[in-house]
Amino acid sequence: MSQKKAAKPAAKKPAPALKTAKTKVAASSTKSHMTENRVFKPSAEFSKNARISSMAQYKRMYEESIKQPDKFFGREAKELQWTKPFSKVLDWKCPNAKWFTGGKLNVSENCLDRHLNGPRKTKAALIWEGEPGEKRVLTYQQLHREVCRFANVLKRHKVKKGDRVVIYLPMIPEAAIAMLACARIGAIHNVVFGGFSAESIKDRVVDSGATLVITADGGYRRGSVVPLKKNVDDALKGNDTTVKTVIVYRRTCQDVHIEEGRDVWWHRELEYVDAHCPAVAMDSEAALFILYTSGSTGKPKGILHTTGGYLLHAQMTCKYVFDMNDQDVYWCTADVGWVTGHSYMVYGPLALGATSLMYEGAPNWPENDRFWRIIEEYAVTIFYTAPTAIRAFMKWGDEWLKKHDLSSLRLLGTVGEPINPEAWMWYHNKVGGGKCPIVDTWWQTETGGHMITPIPGATPTKPGTATLPFFGVDTAIVDDLGKEVGTDEQGKLVIRKPWPSMLRGIWGDKKRYQDTYWSEFKGWYFAGDGARRDKDGNIWIIGRIDDVLNVAGHRLGTAEVESALVSHPSVAEAAVVGRPDEMKGQGIVCFVTVKEGIQTSRDLSDELKKHVRKVIGPVATPDEVRFAAALPKTRSGKIMRRLLKQIAAGEIIKGDTTTLEDINVIAQLVSSGED
Ligand code: PRX
Repeated sequence: MSQKKAAKPAAKKPAPALKTAKTKVAASSTKSHMTENRVFKPSAEFSKNARISSMAQYKRMYEESIKQPDKFFGREAKELQWTKPFSKVLDWKCPNAKWFTGGKLNVSENCLDRHLNGPRKTKAALIWEGEPGEKRVLTYQQLHREVCRFANVLKRHKVKKGDRVVIYLPMIPEAAIAMLACARIGAIHNVVFGGFSAESIKDRVVDSGATLVITADGGYRRGSVVPLKKNVDDALKGNDTTVKTVIVYRRTCQDVHIEEGRDVWWHRELEYVDAHCPAVAMDSEAALFILYTSGSTGKPKGILHTTGGYLLHAQMTCKYVFDMNDQDVYWCTADVGWVTGHSYMVYGPLALGATSLMYEGAPNWPENDRFWRIIEEYAVTIFYTAPTAIRAFMKWGDEWLKKHDLSSLRLLGTVGEPINPEAWMWYHNKVGGGKCPIVDTWWQTETGGHMITPIPGATPTKPGTATLPFFGVDTAIVDDLGKEVGTDEQGKLVIRKPWPSMLRGIWGDKKRYQDTYWSEFKGWYFAGDGARRDKDGNIWIIGRIDDVLNVAGHRLGTAEVESALVSHPSVAEAAVVGRPDEMKGQGIVCFVTVKEGIQTSRDLSDELKKHVRKVIGPVATPDEVRFAAALPKTRSGKIMRRLLKQIAAGEIIKGDTTTLEDINVIAQLVSSGED
């Protein structure tokens, strides 16, 4: 961060009144466990048909998974199809875990080929609906064929085992096809969310050393076309990356630039290949994918997931947490660019031979009932979405739901952020008709799959808690010294044992892996969440306690937004914090000092918002930019974020301010809010 002398901010405004409404969600989600006594037991009918039907059964299995992991996971892993059986379940030398050593398997073979010998061959693997309304169904047999053909296209372009392939596609079946095709030949995919900018693509291409990019001309979002190919062109401008080939899928049919010698059309390429492509037997610990996610410092890091353990955990959680069966129509609304889309739209459901629904666009296009329309039309039985979406549905009103028959639903899930009890109750009553268990699943990009979650036929749930750990997950809530805190006390959530789908590293940065996750508490995994445990043993996630934001379920680093801000020529220094937001969970507030001679204005604030959007992508658009003459710092020059968070939330400044270099800064910052 540059620290040139800052100019004066614009004329002062009166200090804002306390914004109590804005703090509502955070307040309710953190305090709720104190008062939340409503308990919802699964119905006898649900339990009767579920794989795990009682707490006694859950406890027995959990205990075995913790005390005899070799036995528990060894047995579960036999449900995968191994080309060569594994000789050892776990080899653990902190922070390096090796699961199912000696074993060989292929993820695409497990997700496709093994379902082709019985009735699943002609069963729908993927059901897709485009935002404009087109529909496609791909049976297991058809999906297998498309994956094999596309894997041959990749081979034609010299992609081999271990090569990195960036996938920047809209939510179309080709995204799953491309991922599975990479897995089939042992290439490592790196999916980039379609809402990220050209610069973000470039960072990911460069960091992963990708040689091939798969994209589309565009994708549909809320009635407009997202110019995906143009973003890729901008990312690859200057020809200074390792990318040799760009494969372009034709989705929106607008004119796009085709770079001679680099760009090829997906449909044309298929003309040169056949549908025979044997799956490559991969070591259980071979890399499957890299997915970039934000941390509290620096640029996003490439989280590395491997083959056997990841697939097992994805399959097992679909089996036990979603209780998925052959009759289910399962819909996960996450984008394939996030880990939820990887584990719970593609790999988990397909490994289990289930039917996974994929929808391309926005929930409110053309009207607010699009999701309910889809549930009714395809008779969706399991629905997995984010609290942010639920809060938006609540705001749009019940009349949109009432137009549709949602009686096919039997299980609901949430992920991505703490769910406030009010939203939980609405989801339960209005969407689930009071009869569907809700699985509030806590996990992270790094964990690969669910970590803390109810088991729907067994666990009594309370609105707002993710409840109990999944099999093999040894959780503890500890203080800064690693000592377990008492009931209802807040602490840091750690995991004390390795689990099959844990990240295996950060791409290209061993030290950062060790430092980020395994240094705070020796031998335990800690990735930034605070939590409490109530008297019944339920875990209540408080949210991130580091400098990572969770905006509408999207994870962003404050450091990334700050670095985008200081790349603007007018900005001298910036500090970014989260503010509780009733809809999005958190909003982004930027405190900015400008360079000498620069006049602050509403236009400049809008320009800075646009600038961040351009540098990182629309997901990172700031909610507020506040100009200040200086930022609150300690005498040693450290920005006091605690104070900025309180100011951003409109709270009264609490805690020690004696270490502040200049106390007057606070008064100025409080009065710098937007009108
Ligand atoms: O703070 C937790 C929150 O999301 C973070 C992980 O974000 P990401 O890696 O993008 O993965 C999101 C999808 C798995 C966590 O550190 N989080 C995720 N699920 C929950 C949650 N917070 C509360 N309750 C949840 N169910």
